[in-house]
Amino acid sequence: MFSKKEIEDIRREYPFLNLKPNGKDIIYLDNGATTQKPKEVLDNIQNFYETENGNPHRGAHYLAMVSTEAYEGARARVGKFIGAKSPNEIVFLRNATEALNLIAYSYALNNLSEGDEIVISIMEHHSNLVPWQRVAEKTGAKLKYLYVDEDMQIPFSEVEEKIGKNTKILSLTGASNVVGTMPDLDKIFKYTRENSDAKIILDGAQLVPHKKVDVSKLDIDFLVFSGHKMYSAMGIGILYGREDLLNSMEPFLSGGDMIEYVYEDKTTYLPSPQRFEAGTANVEGAVNLAAAIDYIERIGMDRIDEYEKYLTDYAYDKLKKLDYLEVYTTSNKNRAPVISFNFKEAHPHDVASILDTYGIAIRSGHHCAQPLHRFLGSNFSCRASFAVYNTIEEIDYFVEHLEDVRRLLGIES
Ligand SMILES: Cc1ncc(COP(=O)(O)O)c(C=O)c1O
Repeated sequence: MFSKKEIEDIRREYPFLNLKPNGKDIIYLDNGATTQKPKEVLDNIQNFYETENGNPHRGAHYLAMVSTEAYEGARARVGKFIGAKSPNEIVFLRNATEALNLIAYSYALNNLSEGDEIVISIMEHHSNLVPWQRVAEKTGAKLKYLYVDEDMQIPFSEVEEKIGKNTKILSLTGASNVVGTMPDLDKIFKYTRENSDAKIILDGAQLVPHKKVDVSKLDIDFLVFSGHKMYSAMGIGILYGREDLLNSMEPFLSGGDMIEYVYEDKTTYLPSPQRFEAGTANVEGAVNLAAAIDYIERIGMDRIDEYEKYLTDYAYDKLKKLDYLEVYTTSNKNRAPVISFNFKEAHPHDVASILDTYGIAIRSGHHCAQPLHRFLGSNFSCRASFAVYNTIEEIDYFVEHLEDVRRLLGIES
């Protein structure tokens, strides 16, 4: 666990903490949407443009070579971070959404047909749901959902019932951005491997920032995640794919940088990763993600996870005691640092707006998970989500002001 001094040192690295929204100290509890960035990661962007800015793979001059080295170095760094066998398995894209679309378009549309089944869970973010609906519409494959029980866990009977020889895709979140559930990936993926020849996709957008993920140990085909949810810049996302699989797939976008030879009437493509990186890359973003990984690993992923769990348990216990709230997050302590809740008699946007007047940032809305909210019997919720720079004092302040929200909205406790 971090000492008070260590947390103070971590917080000193975050310039955003000097902001005073509505004249109040900022309490940022919207980390599930995007995290803030420490100074060293911010400085890394400046440094890239001052010393490494060239268009990679496209020139014989100094800066083109330096930027190629920085870009390919970042790829190797990301690959090592998630246990990939080769940097060629790491594709730099814009975000997790683009990575899921790439799999849907380049793999699924070309390999699925009527009679095939795609399995996802009811907890999926729209990014891991809408592309599969579209694949199902276009190929005639059937989309099936793993539903959760009252505690937001996937009963294993759901897995046994829904996954079988017709399953061609299992695309599952590693951590729900609404209810925090972390499904038992080892068990579910092992069952899937043994009982189908499905391609296994892990949506790691809410998992990779909090827990060590090793694609080789998990034995998955694809992993996606976004840099901006793990202390890095926006606009950089990762697709991990098994190299043989990536090289068997059609390009998603086409144009410069992804070709081998172009003739008037046909083109041959480079292998992965270039095959999937058409056009000038977000080199700054890739290099910045590598810097964020350095930052995370220097602090220690396990220590960050332990601290975030401590904050989450603390907040969860406090919120559960407030009888005017309905808390949706799972009670299972193996959960992502997100707590979703509703005032029984108030709209989440009103709650979030009032909290904002106290400098507190939470998310309100459907969090890109409308089917899950419908399943929960509510169209929207409030969500507080934590990161390494949050503190117990901030949670106390947040909970105290939930009381003010209750009073202001005239809700009885
Ligand atoms: C579980 C999950 N998957 C996917 C995404 C999509 O991430 P991005 O918007 O960075 O593409 C999010 C974003 O909130 C998410 O929480």
